[in-house]
Amino acid sequence: MVKVAIMGHGTVGSGVYEVFAMNAEKIARVAEQPVEVKYVLDLRDFSHLPYADKFVSDFSIIENDPEVTVVAEVMGGTGAAYEFTKRCLNAGKSVCTSNKELVATHGEELLAIAKEKNVNYLFEASVGGGIPVIRPMMQCLAANEIREIRGILNGTTNYILSEMIHKGVSFEDALKQAQANGYAEKDPTADIEGHDACRKICILSDLAFGDKFDPNAVSCEGISKITLTDVEEAGKLGYVIKLIGRAVRCEDGTAYAYVAPHLIPKNHPLAAVEDVFNAIMIDGNATGDVMFYGKGAGKLATASAVVADMLDAIAHAEKRRPVEWGDGSKN
Ligand code: HSE
Repeated sequence: MVKVAIMGHGTVGSGVYEVFAMNAEKIARVAEQPVEVKYVLDLRDFSHLPYADKFVSDFSIIENDPEVTVVAEVMGGTGAAYEFTKRCLNAGKSVCTSNKELVATHGEELLAIAKEKNVNYLFEASVGGGIPVIRPMMQCLAANEIREIRGILNGTTNYILSEMIHKGVSFEDALKQAQANGYAEKDPTADIEGHDACRKICILSDLAFGDKFDPNAVSCEGISKITLTDVEEAGKLGYVIKLIGRAVRCEDGTAYAYVAPHLIPKNHPLAAVEDVFNAIMIDGNATGDVMFYGKGAGKLATASAVVADMLDAIAHAEKRRPVEWGDGSKN
C-alpha cells in the first residue's frame, strides 16, 4: 500500500481525489499496489464530504508522516505552495503539481532540491491541463533540437474567443461561463491578460531551450481588448483570432518567447481548436511539427495529469526521473 497526500481541495484538488476514487482499481494495477489518499490539506470546512476524516489543516502532519511518500500540490500560487513544496522535497517526498505559477518562477530551484534529495518534482499538469506535452517533449522528442513551440495554452481565453466568434456572446458573458465551468483562475485577470499562457510558454521554453525565461520579463498581451467587431472583421478576411504563446530558437542558439493574440488563417490546424481545448505545436528538427491537442483546463482533465505524475513518482520511488531544467537543449 502506498500513501499519498493532496495539498489543496479546490477545483483540481477535489478532482485528484475523485480520480483516485473513480479509478482505484486501475491505479492499483499501475502502481502494483493499492494507493490510499491519507490526507487532504485545506483550511476550509469540508465536514459534509464522505471523506471528511482525511482533511487536515496542519501541513506538518503531512511533512512528518514517513508513510506519505508522494504529495500533490494543487493549492496554486507561490506563497504557502512554495514553502510546502520545498519542505515536502526536503522531507524526501516527491511532489506532483499543476501549479504553473510556481513551476514558472521557482521550478529550477525545486528541481535542484528534488535532485539533491533523490525524489521527483513533476509538473505535467502545469501546461495543457490533461494533455501530455512535457513528458513527450522531454522524452519522445529528446533526439530533436526544438526549433519552435507555439500554441493555444489557455482554455479560458480560447473558450471566450470561441463563444465570441461562433455565438456572438459578449466577452463578459463568455468569461462568466468559463468561470462557472471551473476553467478560469481564481483571479481571471491571469487568464484574460495572458499571464497564465505566459507562465506555460516559459515552462516549455525553459525545458526546451535551457535558458531561464522569466514570466515577468516575457512580452505578454491578452485578449481583454478584443471586441466582437474585431472577431467579425477577422472572420470576413478568412481568419480567427487566437491567443498564442510562442517560443522560437534563433540561429545563434538564443531563444525568445512571447504571448499575443494572432490572426490565424481558418484552414490552419490551430484555428480548429475550440472551446476549452488547447493545442501545442512543437517543431523538432527531425520530426517537423508535432501537435498535442486536448482539454487544457477543467477539474478531471487536469487531475488526470497530476495523478499520472503521482503514479510515475511511485514507480520511480527508487530512481528519480531524469528531468533537468533545460536538458532539452544543452549539447
Ligand atoms: N485557467 C487555466 C486555463 C487553467 O484556463 O487554461 C488551466 O491551466
